[in-house]
Amino acid sequence: ERIKELIVRLEKEHSLSETEYAELITGRDEESAALLARKAAEKQKVVFGDAVYTRGLIEISSICKNNCLYCGIRRDNPKAERYRLTPEEILSCADEGYELGFRTFVLQGGEDPAFTDAVLCGIVRALKQRHPDCAVTLSLGERSSESYQALYDAGADRYLLRHETADAGHYAKLHPKEMSFENRMRCLRDLKEIGYQVGCGFMVGSPFQTPETLAKDLKFIETFRPAMCGIGPFIPHRNTPFRNEPTGTLELTLFLLSVIRLILPEVLLPATTALGTIHPRGREMGIQAGANVVMPNLSPVGVRKKYELYDNKICTGEESAQCRGCLEARMRSVGYHLAVDRGDAPGWTKK
Ligand code: 5AD
Ligand code: FES
Repeated sequence: ERIKELIVRLEKEHSLSETEYAELITGRDEESAALLARKAAEKQKVVFGDAVYTRGLIEISSICKNNCLYCGIRRDNPKAERYRLTPEEILSCADEGYELGFRTFVLQGGEDPAFTDAVLCGIVRALKQRHPDCAVTLSLGERSSESYQALYDAGADRYLLRHETADAGHYAKLHPKEMSFENRMRCLRDLKEIGYQVGCGFMVGSPFQTPETLAKDLKFIETFRPAMCGIGPFIPHRNTPFRNEPTGTLELTLFLLSVIRLILPEVLLPATTALGTIHPRGREMGIQAGANVVMPNLSPVGVRKKYELYDNKICTGEESAQCRGCLEARMRSVGYHLAVDRGDAPGWTKK
């Protein structure tokens, strides 16, 4: 029938019209989702085999000047516990991660004004000097083009900046007036232009999301062609305006992971911590639906609970080694293994 036809076409052509993406989402059922997941897992096996890439996540600051309505570390949450890691702490997390087999480090944090270009460039340079065989990914929000360029020149390889939604009206409902969809898109374009492997992405089930806004997300992903794409369920945080909004579903998140794998067979697609938070085997199911990356936590255990974007986040009590071991076992349980590899986007070389 119609949905099956759309899936077959998506697999062949890696593209549907925006209307068809919406139709696919609206018309999905258990059977079509299973077909889609099978095709997505097939593609993933062809491109990446049994290997799942890992990135060691270091949450460098819970201080943020922004006020996104969904986020637990938004400026207007006075209950959020704020911390900022020192450059020495960040480097020692990375050293520990290196010993554990991580070859990519993701420095993620709120938009903390203390992390100036000078400070960050120093950290990136030191990290690359200590571990020249590692990739450095930054996930630090919106910055100027000059700033992105300076960080790239200091050695950063990749940048994650979720677009959050490709619909400007929807974007405005998730963010305060001081933030703009246009600047978000400007950042993404600049990052790509500079030469970063760029990651975009969105939350599944965010307030005001519709099949139509999701169709725009998929069309954006298709045309922007990111190297990475981070999607995970929206999970309400008790101290945000969205505290009473429903959590995004496992089912729709898995479905969209599969769709994205068919649109961009080579994209790096994480099974996110948020997915692991809404279901005990969420990340395993994410891998089986087409994801190929996991990002265990390397932050010092003492700060992990403070980097709380949403309620009930997992992996906040575990040491880094435990977290890696736990994920290794989880991936083995579904027939995959963790690769000791930078895990670059296929075909990518730094300019
Ligand atoms: N639930 C799920 N994901 C969230 N993020 C922020 N707040 C939440 C939430 N409540 C995501 C955003 C951001 C990324 C770092 O975390 O998409 O880009
Ligand atoms: Fe962190 Fe399981 S992955 S404890």
